[in-house]
Amino acid sequence: MQKLVVTGGQRLRGELSLQGSKNSALPIMAAALLCGEDCTLKNCPKLTDIYAASRILNCVGCRCLFSDECVVISSENISETAIPEELMREMRSSIIFLGAMLGRTGECTVCCPGGCELGPRPIDMHLTALRKMGADIRESYGKIICRIPERAHGARISLPFPSVGATENIILCAVTADGETVINNAAREPEICDLCGFLRACGAEISGDGESRIVIRGREGLHGCEYSIMPDRIAGATYLSMTAATRGEIILKNACAAAMEPFISVLEQTGCSIYASRDKIFLRSGSRLKAVNERIRTMPHPGFPTDAQALLMAALVTADGTSIFEENIFDCRYRHTDALVKMGADIQVLGKTAVVKGVERLYGANVEATDLRGGAAMVAAALTADGKTEIGGISHIDRGYEKIEDAVRSLGGNIKRV
Ligand code: EPZ
Repeated sequence: MQKLVVTGGQRLRGELSLQGSKNSALPIMAAALLCGEDCTLKNCPKLTDIYAASRILNCVGCRCLFSDECVVISSENISETAIPEELMREMRSSIIFLGAMLGRTGECTVCCPGGCELGPRPIDMHLTALRKMGADIRESYGKIICRIPERAHGARISLPFPSVGATENIILCAVTADGETVINNAAREPEICDLCGFLRACGAEISGDGESRIVIRGREGLHGCEYSIMPDRIAGATYLSMTAATRGEIILKNACAAAMEPFISVLEQTGCSIYASRDKIFLRSGSRLKAVNERIRTMPHPGFPTDAQALLMAALVTADGTSIFEENIFDCRYRHTDALVKMGADIQVLGKTAVVKGVERLYGANVEATDLRGGAAMVAAALTADGKTEIGGISHIDRGYEKIEDAVRSLGGNIKRV
C-alpha cells in the first residue's frame, strides 16, 4: 500500500506548468467514440481515471494509443455495447459513456457508476433526459439497459439542477440526434465549453455553452480531429492553495485564469497578492493568511467550486480568524475535516456548514485520504504542519493529480511516495 510522506515547514516557491483537465478529458474521451475516425487529444493528463476511461473505450472496441504528447483514440468499429460492472464502478464519469454510446450505436447496458464517496450521487436527471430523447430504459438486476429503436431525436430538456454530468450526457446523445435539442438550466462549467469545443472541431453544431441555455442541432456523422484539452482549474486551485498555505510564491503556467476566477477572487481575500494574465497566474503570500470574512458557499459555476472547498479549507485552518464554509453541491463533502482536526485544526461541522477557527500551527499525523480533493487537501495541510505526516489512501489522489509528489517537490516541498 503506497503512502505519501510529507515533512512540513518549507515555503513552496517556483514555477509549475498545469496538467490538462481531468474533468474535460473524460467526457471528451467519451465523445471521441462518436466520431468513427481517429481523434488526437493533446494535453491529456496521465491519471488513473483517464486509464479507466481508456479501458471502457477498449472494451467497446475502440483503440487508445498513449504517447508522451497525446492520446489517439480510434473508434472505427464498435464491437460491444455493454460496459462491464467492474469498469463502471471505477469512476463516476463512466456514466458519460451512456450518452455517447446511445448516439453512436443506439444501445448500451451499464450499471450505476462508482466514484468519490461524496454522498448520494443519483443519475435520475441523466436517465430522464435520455428518455425524452427517445431512449427506452429498463433496470434489471442492477443493470440499466438502454435502447433507442431508430435514431435519438431532439428534445427540450429543463434540468431541475445544472448537473455537469447530465448536461454532458445530453450533449453527447444530442449531437448525432435527429433535430434540435435545447437544454435549459444547463451546467455552465468551463469543462462543458471544452467538451463543446471538441465536438465542434468534429463537426457538431452547438451554441450557448457557457450559458444556461445550450442548443444542439443534431447531424448524422462527426469526423475526427486534433484537440488540446484545457488546463485543470482544480489542480490550479490545489497548487495555489498549497503555496498560499506555506506562505510561498508561485507562477502557474499553462493556467486558465478566467476559468479560475471564482476561486481566485475568494483566495485573494486571504491577503495573497495574485496577478493573472490569460495563461499565467502569479501568487505571493508573504505572511499569515487572513480568514475569509464572507461565507464561502459552493455553487455551480460561476460560483465557488465544490472541488476547491477542501483545498481552500486546508489553507484557512492556519489563517488568522474564523472562516465559514457552506457546501451546497454534495451532502458528504467534509470527510477531510477529521484528518485536519487530527493534525490540530479547529473545525466544527454542522450539516452543510463548517466553521474553521484558524490555529497557529498544525502537527504531523497519520491520516487517510477518503476522496480525491480531500486527499489533496491533506497534502496541503501537511506542508504547513510541524513534523511528518503520512497520508494513506493515495489511490484517491492519483485519480486526479499527475504525480502530485513531483509537482510539490519541484516547488521545494518535502514529500515522497513510499
Ligand atoms: C462533476 O461531477 C465533477 N466530475 C465533479 O468533480 C464535481 O464535483 C461536480 O461535477 C460538481 O462540479 C466530473 O466532471 C468527472 P453533478 P458530477 O452531476 O457530474 C446531483 C472531482 O473532484 N445530481 O453536477 O457527478 C448530485 O448528486 C469531481 O474532480 C442528482 O441529484 O456532478 C450532486 O449533488 C468530484 N441527479 C449534484 O447534483 C443526477 O442525475 C451535482 O452533481 C445528477 C446529479
